[in-house]
Amino acid sequence: MDEVMDIRRMAMENNDLFGSSLPMIASENVMGPIATEMLISDFEHRYAEGKPGERYYQGCRYVDEVERKAVELGLRLFACGYINVQIVSGTLANLAAFSAFAQPGDVMTALDTNAGAHISHQRIGAAGIRGLKVVHYPYDMESLNIDVDASVRLIREEKPKIVLLGQSLFLFPLPVRELSEAAREVGAKVIYDGAHVLGLIAGKRFQDPLKEGADVLTGSTHKTFPGPQGGIILGNLDEKDAKRMDSAVFPGLVSNHHLHRLAALAVTLAEEVHFGEAYADQIVRNAKAFAQRMHELGFTVLGEHMGFTQSHQIAIDVKALGGGTEIADLLERCGIIVNKNMLPYDDPKKPKNPSGLRIGVQELTRCGMREREMERVAELFKEAAMDRKDPVVVRKEVNEIRRGYRRVRYCFNEWDPYKYVKLV
Ligand SMILES: Cc1ncc(COP(=O)(O)O)c(C=O)c1O
Repeated sequence: MDEVMDIRRMAMENNDLFGSSLPMIASENVMGPIATEMLISDFEHRYAEGKPGERYYQGCRYVDEVERKAVELGLRLFACGYINVQIVSGTLANLAAFSAFAQPGDVMTALDTNAGAHISHQRIGAAGIRGLKVVHYPYDMESLNIDVDASVRLIREEKPKIVLLGQSLFLFPLPVRELSEAAREVGAKVIYDGAHVLGLIAGKRFQDPLKEGADVLTGSTHKTFPGPQGGIILGNLDEKDAKRMDSAVFPGLVSNHHLHRLAALAVTLAEEVHFGEAYADQIVRNAKAFAQRMHELGFTVLGEHMGFTQSHQIAIDVKALGGGTEIADLLERCGIIVNKNMLPYDDPKKPKNPSGLRIGVQELTRCGMREREMERVAELFKEAAMDRKDPVVVRKEVNEIRRGYRRVRYCFNEWDPYKYVKLV
């Protein structure tokens, strides 16, 4: 019993920590109350292999209805013809797409990690597990983006089976149209990893990759899309490709598809239909306001000549202040939670002490912060990282501002997700 209580105490303290800090990790978010309720519903205990109406288990009457609803809402929200809601993470969504459309030994083109790509796009991650040979796009430091002409040439030379686009450090839209045309010439499938920007795509505040030529959009459902930890696959696929994609998920990579997650996803999809545009709009406004104020305060914010960002993220270079590791650690002591991050000019083989920080505003936006609060948050960054004020003093200021912004908005019922709910 003592061990159980210890674990519970850690969970409670973790709630307190995040409820009193400024959580600005770009890949995280908090859910609405009804979606959260789904996670402790009986769906959590059940199995439902197969498709609605064609299950291998009895007792699936309600999960069938929920899954059909999630499919219908997802197709509506993303205005596409294919969806798979059974994949349980973004990494597995990528692996499923790699398995459906490439064989071991095939080439895939992708960005390198210092240019913002995710580990699943690399040889040491899901791409390598599928046995793919990964060839990196040339990168243009000026536009902080893929070098389009050189990458089109690369695709024509390498003749990949998959042209992969998408990033974890994702500031600006990618050249989907141009690279999709080159992909068609060589018969490659275009997979757009929208894990980070899925909520912005849903809210029509970022490029729509499926309209611009991508065949498949993979994503996580818990970053800018404010749902449960999980994955999703969307696309415009013919019947044969849709079947390949579906079987890569089940029976390929998933047996049971975590039905509590599925129900929470269905609720969040419904809420995104109503609130997604307003939420995405405020995220992007907040990111721009935060970046602008950081720049005015003297931080080196990437992408100044392009308005700093068009997503939920801001990247800053803190090499002159001590480096990403030192500053991320210092900020944490002040109650500001961010992650150190490689910047495009860092050596991808040395990820341990990168030059930068990646900062995301999606969670604070979900809790009601707007441009004015973002400016205040930027000032707290300055007090912590530049003025080197006593972390105890900064933490008090952080607590103060956070107190008024803990309730989740952009869903049907507001609530405080940081308050620990005891069942017994
Ligand atoms: C671009 C990108 N793809 C995929 C993933 C993996 O998502 P998940 O954590 O859902 O497996 C991430 C995670 O942060 C990501 O940034």
